[in-house]
Amino acid sequence: MIIKSPETPEEFEKYCDLRWRILRAPWNRPRHKIKHEINDKSIKLIACDENRNVIGTGRARFNSPNEAEIKSMAVEENYRGKGIGSKIISELERRVKESTAEIIVINSRESAVDFYIKHNYKVMEKSYNIYGDLPHFKMLKEL
Ligand SMILES: CC(C)(COP(=O)(O)OP(=O)(O)OC[C@H]1O[C@@H](n2cnc3c(N)ncnc32)[C@H](O)[C@@H]1OP(=O)(O)O)[C@@H](O)C(=O)NCCC(=O)NCCS
Repeated sequence: MIIKSPETPEEFEKYCDLRWRILRAPWNRPRHKIKHEINDKSIKLIACDENRNVIGTGRARFNSPNEAEIKSMAVEENYRGKGIGSKIISELERRVKESTAEIIVINSRESAVDFYIKHNYKVMEKSYNIYGDLPHFKMLKEL
């Protein structure tokens, strides 16, 4: 398994597809229109298995020079609990630390809060609900 940025149109398509299938499709949400992300400044990562299937994603965008936000953390269901999400978030953090950002924020789904707590993020406040009734919590880590 390797963690890397999507480099080809095919890898970018797989990155979009996994995000959509895990984070949106179960709530009947349409595919993202995220072509603009190809060349933006955000850090985009995919986890690939030995057959080059994309089995995990993660992204860090910069809200300001001081603040990065981790988004789009998703691991294929049958690969969860094997450390892939941890490898993705660690690599995102490593790359964010190369920037001027001093904090990372996350708007986490309630079901993922404990995963981020394991990575030393603190719950700051309840933030918003999306897709009808999917509570989120703002989390923060100082680098
Ligand atoms: C959240 C997610 C990305 C974690 O990826 P993963 O590869 O399963 O995580 P890891 O295997 O690296 O887990 C690291 C630790 O966190 C724990 N953990 C992982 N997901 C968890 C969750 N949802 N709730 C509580 N604990 C969790 C693991 O048990 C493990 O604990 P351990 O170190 O004591 O063994 C993955 O479960 C996922 O894709 N969930 C669905 C999509 C989602 O909700 N994304 C987050 C949106 S904010």
